[in-house]
Amino acid sequence: MGTSSVKAALGEINHINGINVLGLSRVPAAGLRKGNIIDIESTARSIDNCLNELERLTGIEILSAQTGFSGISISAVTNHAVVAVGNPNNEITREDKERVLHSVQNIALPPDKAIVQVIERQYIIDGYDGVTDPVGMVGSRLEVEVVVIIAATAAIQNLQRSAQRINLHFDKLAYNQLLVAESVLTPAEKEMGVALIDMGGGTTEISVFNQGSMICTSVLPIGGDYISKDLAIVLRTSIEEAIRIKEDYGVATPEMARDDVIINARNIQGSDVKQVSQQLVAEIISARIMEMLEMIFTELQQLTYLDKLAGGVVLTGGGAKLKGLIEAMEEYMDVPVRLGMPENINGLAGDINSTQNSVALGALIYGFKHMEPAILETKAGVTSVFHKVNNWIKDLFS
Ligand SMILES: Nc1ncnc2c1ncn2[C@@H]1O[C@H](COP(=O)(O)OP(=O)(O)OP(=O)(O)O)[C@@H](O)[C@H]1O
Ligand SMILES: [Mg+2]
Repeated sequence: MGTSSVKAALGEINHINGINVLGLSRVPAAGLRKGNIIDIESTARSIDNCLNELERLTGIEILSAQTGFSGISISAVTNHAVVAVGNPNNEITREDKERVLHSVQNIALPPDKAIVQVIERQYIIDGYDGVTDPVGMVGSRLEVEVVVIIAATAAIQNLQRSAQRINLHFDKLAYNQLLVAESVLTPAEKEMGVALIDMGGGTTEISVFNQGSMICTSVLPIGGDYISKDLAIVLRTSIEEAIRIKEDYGVATPEMARDDVIINARNIQGSDVKQVSQQLVAEIISARIMEMLEMIFTELQQLTYLDKLAGGVVLTGGGAKLKGLIEAMEEYMDVPVRLGMPENINGLAGDINSTQNSVALGALIYGFKHMEPAILETKAGVTSVFHKVNNWIKDLFS
C-alpha cells in the first residue's frame, strides 16, 4: 500500500530456484496521505482494482494477502525480557520461547497506539548471546532482545477495514521496511550495518540494519510528490504533466541538466504549450531535493552513527528513480549509496524490475519465509508434505 500506488505481486515457490514471480500489478492509489489511510472506501477500491488486475494477469483467484504497513505514525522501540526455563532438564521448549516473547510485548502504550510487529534480534541463554532460535537448546535463563514496531491503532484498523470491505483476508501485517529489506538488501549488508531508505510519493522510510536485523526505523512525511507539486506550481501546469516532466526529464542537480534540452509543458487547462529548459526544471527539483536530503541526513544521524554503516546506504522506492539522486545523496552524506533494485527473486521481466516494486516483491520473499505450517495444514490437510516444504524454503533463503 503506497500513497502513490497500490502494488501486488503473486508468486509460486519453485523447488529449484526459489520464488517465481507470476505477476505484478500496480494501480494508482486513492484515499491515502503520507502513507496513512484517510478514506477507507477509496482505499478499498484501490486494493480491489489492484487485485483484480493481478487475478486477470495470472488467472489465479486471490483470497488472502501478506500486507505491508507503513505511514507516519510508525515508531520503533527496543525491549528486553527474561524468563526462567520451565523444563527441569533445562531444555528450552517452544512454550519458553512463547513466554519470553509474550513478556517482551509488555510495553506501556497509550490506547491510541498498538504493536504492529515484534522483530526478534537475538536470544541470550545463560548470558551467551547471538542465538537466533533457542528451542531445543539447554539453559536455565532465557532472554530475548527485540525491536517493537508501533503504529497508531486507528491506522492499523483502517487498513483492516479497507480489506474487509472487499472480503480480503490479511494473512499477516508486516512493516514495509522488513519487506523491502528482503528484496533489496544482501545478507552481508544487513550483517555489517546498512541504512535502507525507501523514498515513495508521500513518505520516506529510513531504517538501520545491523548484525542481521533491523535495529531502528523512522518514517518522514516527505517524498517525490513534493517535487511534482513544486514543478506544477512553478511551471503552471497540472500535477500529471509535472509528474511526466519529472520522470522523463528530471535530474537531481542543475549540473546534470543540459542547456540544449527544451521541454514542452502544457498549461493547466491543457490548451497551451510553453517551452522550458531542462536547466530550469533541474533548479526547481534540486531546491526540494536538497531540503529532503537534509531532512533524511538529520534523521539518519539521529538513528545511527554513519561510520557504523559499513554497508553504506541503499536507496529504493519510486523516488529513487530520479536521475542523479544516488550521486547527489552520496555527495551530500559522504557515504556510499547504491540503488536498491528488487533482486533475490526470479522471473522478473521488463517493467516489473523497478525500485517501485521493491516492497511488493519483498513481500513475496517475506511471506514464503514466514509461512506458518499450521495455515498450510488446514488448507491442504497434509502435514508432512508441508513441513518439508517449509524446511526447503528455509534452506533456500538461509
Ligand atoms: N522515473 C522517475 N523519476 C522520478 N521520480 C519517479 C520516477 N518514477 C516514479 N517516480 C516517483 O516515485 C513516487 C512514487 O513512488 P512509490 O511508488 O515508491 O510510492 P508509494 O509507495 O506509492 O508511496 P509512499 O511510500 O510514499 O506511501 C512518485 O512521487 C513518483 O513521481
Ligand atoms: Mg512506499
